[in-house]
Amino acid sequence: MTDKMDKWLRSGPEALLRKAGLREGNCVLDLGCNQGRYAIPAARIVGNSGRVYAVDMDKKVLRKVKRQAAKDRLGNIETVHVAQHGAVPIQAGTIDVILLYDVLHGGYFPEKAQRDNLLREVHTLLRPGGFLSCCLTHLRPFGWTYEEILAEIKDAGFRLRRQFRPALVHDDKLVRVRIFQFAKPG
Ligand SMILES: C[S@@+](CC[C@H](N)C(=O)[O-])C[C@H]1O[C@@H](n2cnc3c(N)ncnc32)[C@H](O)[C@@H]1O
Repeated sequence: MTDKMDKWLRSGPEALLRKAGLREGNCVLDLGCNQGRYAIPAARIVGNSGRVYAVDMDKKVLRKVKRQAAKDRLGNIETVHVAQHGAVPIQAGTIDVILLYDVLHGGYFPEKAQRDNLLREVHTLLRPGGFLSCCLTHLRPFGWTYEEILAEIKDAGFRLRRQFRPALVHDDKLVRVRIFQFAKPG
C-alpha cells in the first residue's frame, strides 16, 4: 500500500461523502456496504440526529461493520442483512440518501431485470427529494457504457443532478472514478 492510499483510507471516504452531499441528520442507506468503508464515515457525518443502515447480503462483513461501529462508539448505525436480489426490509419513503458504490455492475447484477428491480427498490426506499449517490465501476469488463447505465437509472424515475470525479481506493489501487447524484423528484 502506498502512502497516498494509506492517507486516503484515513480521511478520503468522509471527505468524499461530504462532497457527495451527506449532511448531519440524514438517514442514509449504504446498499452493498461490505466492511463499511463508507457506512462508518457516513455515521460520523450524520451524527446522533441521523441514522445509517449498512445493508449487505454477506453476514460476515456485517459483523465487521458492527464491531467497527462499537469500537468507534457509533450508536447510529444499524446492520441489515438481505438475500441477494431480495427486498430491503425498511419502510418505503424514509431514506434521505442511498449509497450504491461499486455494486451496480455485471458481477452482481448481470441481468437488466435484476438492475431494474434494484433501482425500483432504491426509488421506493427514498423519500421524495432524497437522492441516490452512485459510484459506477467495472463497466468496461462487462461491455457496458456509462450512457447505458445512466439511462437505466433515469428510466427508474431518477433525475441526474450532478457528478464529480474523485480519486479513491478501489481494488487496492488509487483510481479516479465518476460519482453521480440522482434525485428522486419531490
Ligand atoms: C465490491 S463491494 C463494495 C463495498 C462498498 N460499497 C465499497 O464501495 O467499498 C460490493 C458489496 O456489495 C454486496 N452486494 C452485492 N450484491 C448485493 C445484493 N444484491 N444485495 C446486497 N448486497 C450486495 C457484496 O456482498 C459486497 O459486500
